[in-house]
Amino acid sequence: MLNMAMVVTATTLVILLLCSQSSVAILLNKLQLPSPVTGPESLAFDKNGEGPYVGSSDGRIFKYNGPDVGFKEYAYTSPNRNKTVCDGLSDFSAVQATCGRPLGLGFNHQTGDLYVADAYLGLVKVSPDGGNVTQLVGPAQANSTMFADGLDVDPDTGIVYFTVASTNFQLKDYQTLVTSGDSSGSLLRYDPSTNQTTVLLSNLSMPSGVAVSKDGSFVLVGEYLSNRIQRVWLKGPRANSSELFMLLTGRPNNIKRNSAGQFWISVHSVLGLGLPISPRRTALPRGVRVSENRIILQIASLVAEYGIEPASEVQEYNGKLYAGSLLASYASIFIG
Ligand SMILES: *[C@@H]1O[C@H](CO)[C@@H](O)[C@H](O)[C@H]1NC(C)=O
Ligand SMILES: *[C@@H]1O[C@H](CO)[C@@H](O)[C@H](O)[C@H]1NC(C)=O
Ligand SMILES: *[C@@H]1O[C@H](CO)[C@@H](O)[C@H](O)[C@H]1NC(C)=O
Ligand SMILES: *[C@@H]1O[C@H](CO)[C@@H](O)[C@H](O)[C@H]1NC(C)=O
Ligand SMILES: *[C@@H]1O[C@H](CO)[C@@H](O)[C@H](O)[C@H]1NC(C)=O
Ligand SMILES: *[C@@H]1O[C@H](CO)[C@@H](O)[C@H](O)[C@H]1NC(C)=O
Repeated sequence: MLNMAMVVTATTLVILLLCSQSSVAILLNKLQLPSPVTGPESLAFDKNGEGPYVGSSDGRIFKYNGPDVGFKEYAYTSPNRNKTVCDGLSDFSAVQATCGRPLGLGFNHQTGDLYVADAYLGLVKVSPDGGNVTQLVGPAQANSTMFADGLDVDPDTGIVYFTVASTNFQLKDYQTLVTSGDSSGSLLRYDPSTNQTTVLLSNLSMPSGVAVSKDGSFVLVGEYLSNRIQRVWLKGPRANSSELFMLLTGRPNNIKRNSAGQFWISVHSVLGLGLPISPRRTALPRGVRVSENRIILQIASLVAEYGIEPASEVQEYNGKLYAGSLLASYASIFIG
């Protein structure tokens, strides 16, 4: 019965996807990382609107300082990072475990702290000057590997929501994880006022993106391997319960809230869901903008820029769209 209902919802959504306002985003600019570094998976802006700040393949976090200066090193997450070994690391490798691999990023605009979900080190806090780095929740506390991935900071309370994509697989085992059917992922909540971490939802299939609602009443978490977004209620009569928020015709990666409280979901469409897409275009990266009431407001295709490579994040900031990627050597700016 449940499966039946889900099939019907999925079909409805496919129709919605095909009918909604669909457009091809227009590329304005590419922000290149210093060669040979790659992989600005997520982007963040500080309280003065400066940035974006991005993580990278060699464990460093870079800050974009405008077209003349480009990206400059801001911080790194690993306490044991050796510059000789790590600087310039450009691919997935076992060395990343000691160099660090920052993925999800988010500022607390009140304190200026940058919170980072590092794929190997867990939840890490970087002080406003970029110098002091504190590991808050790591594999040691969990007694297991912890592939931390997505992150969001509640702008009012400073509470940090982050995902552990898997406790069985690490980022370097990404290809195996994607085909494994793993469901060891979880959504966690870190409260900086008490230093307490709680698990909000477990048994998730590679939870990648997370975003808290504008009023802090719920948090969304995407499950990359099961093409769906779940909603966990934090306040009100339904607090502490979760529900299906949306099924998608592709894999949801990062989720970012815009200033109007809507969400941009980076969706990587794949074959096998009955979508009429041609075999040559087996994968389509796009940004999907949805309301708190689950209405799809816009679909922006990034295929012209990213081809069949997935974009990991689409974020709206000051009227423009910013896209990140786990593999590309640049972040992009679009007009949606
Ligand atoms: C960093 O790694 C290089 C090359 O393996 C080594 O020679 C050097 O001693 C290391 N530095 C530190 C501080 O461990
Ligand atoms: C960084 O840490 C050092 C040593 O713990 C401390 O003295 C300093 O005030 C910290 N700086 C910031 C900006 O937090
Ligand atoms: C917060 O908790 C972590 C993990 O238990 C610990 O390493 C860290 O020292 C704590 N920080 C503070 C400020 O209590
Ligand atoms: C991790 O192991 C320690 C020591 O065995 C134990 O006290 C702690 O409760 C464990 N933590 C978790 C999250 O299982
Ligand atoms: C959820 O995961 C835990 C271990 O992390 C497992 O013991 C439990 O059976 C799982 N529950 C479901 C419903 O799969
Ligand atoms: C939700 O859980 C928290 C912490 O366990 C509890 O304080 C609160 O009363 C719960 N709310 C509801 C509506 O059940």
